[in-house]
Amino acid sequence: MNPLKEKGIPLEKQLRSWQETVKRPYNKFDADNYTRTRQILMNGIEIEAWNFKHAFVRCHPNLEVRKQVNIIRRLEGMQQMTAAWLAPADQTVLDTTLGYEQVAVDLTAWLAQNEPDDYVKETYDFGLLEDFDHLYRYAQWAYMAEGSDPNDILQDMTDVLIARPTQYHHNCNAMRIRRHYDKTTANPQTKMNILTLVSAEQQTHNFYADHGFMYGNEDLRRLYAEICDVEEEHVSMYESLIDPSETPFEKLLIHEFTEVCNYYNCYKDESDLRLRLIWEEFLAYEIEHLRIAAELLKVHENRDPEEIIGDKIFEPSHFESQKEYVTNILENETGKRIISDGGYGDVENLPDDWRGYAVQEASNRDGAPSEQAVRLIRASIGHDIVSADEKLIRKEPELLERSLEKKYQAPNTVTVDEYKEMVNINIKGDKK
Ligand SMILES: [Fe+2]
Ligand SMILES: [Fe+2]
Ligand SMILES: [Fe+2]
Ligand SMILES: [Fe+2]
Repeated sequence: MNPLKEKGIPLEKQLRSWQETVKRPYNKFDADNYTRTRQILMNGIEIEAWNFKHAFVRCHPNLEVRKQVNIIRRLEGMQQMTAAWLAPADQTVLDTTLGYEQVAVDLTAWLAQNEPDDYVKETYDFGLLEDFDHLYRYAQWAYMAEGSDPNDILQDMTDVLIARPTQYHHNCNAMRIRRHYDKTTANPQTKMNILTLVSAEQQTHNFYADHGFMYGNEDLRRLYAEICDVEEEHVSMYESLIDPSETPFEKLLIHEFTEVCNYYNCYKDESDLRLRLIWEEFLAYEIEHLRIAAELLKVHENRDPEEIIGDKIFEPSHFESQKEYVTNILENETGKRIISDGGYGDVENLPDDWRGYAVQEASNRDGAPSEQAVRLIRASIGHDIVSADEKLIRKEPELLERSLEKKYQAPNTVTVDEYKEMVNINIKGDKK
């Protein structure tokens, strides 16, 4: 379908009562894990839609345009509340956190396989291993603080295992800047894929920044701080792929197009009928937002919207188990590091003045909370919390070895030998 040719719901009919805005949440115990990931993602997409329009209006001199964008922005805010508050009150912060990292892993893996630009794909594969490691670190705490099994949330769709250790995700933010696409030649799918992932990562950052205080344990609070800062790096990395010379109207159009594609994908995939109807209704809202954004572009820039977003819809957020894809990246890329000028290097060949070292040394000098999570669980039950094929679990020490930086390690780094012991206990435990 060409979303520019579809008919949406007029703006005046998008204004809903509070009762229509605040819907009954899904049930934490019954919900499909991918119903949760869609709900988490759409909250992030709406936050970005709302936030971008604030930045737009603050910078735009034309009063009529500002009025128009203000009206739509309020509706985005109401959609955001609906999506965000489908989550139930008894879903703990750590439960939700595992959901956020499951979004990051499975969404990034899907986007990487549906990305026409090879360089953008490489960046997704790189970021993927970092969120995969976050999932592992948080899973230790979900067990220690709340006694929960990660599969209560993940439902065996996503593995839990060490990847590129979080202590190595801290880099100079200037170095995180990647090479951006060229807006005149980029595929519309690339533009929309990137904005989808930027929205998800930004919301992950915001959630950690805003909820890390909700636990009393200092080590857990510090883990939220550490990973929140990595999500800041992820937002920086993914947003830098966007051509900065896009005009505000062009960006507005891409934002609405991204909302259309994601709601379409949610509507198509959703197994919970009640939520499916919400996604369908919001898709019709977004088609109207897109029509208005296209009109603004035509009137103010005399440009054809199809030049920017093409004439067809994409499916950026199809969720399914990505274990096989992730395992392949895990076995080959834990030693990968970002280097200057948008390049990628290997841990074996980093120059002595590599800019990541100074940041890691400054932030981890009193110990990395991400290492502490494993130290504590090892002291408590003798092994880490993992969920993967036994063959893969046996590779934990080797995966760590390939990823360790020779020049800098946090003082509390869990060693390869300690991993060997944990793996032995884990495997024996499985056979009981
Ligand atoms: Fe929206
Ligand atoms: Fe993450
Ligand atoms: Fe992330
Ligand atoms: Fe919208």
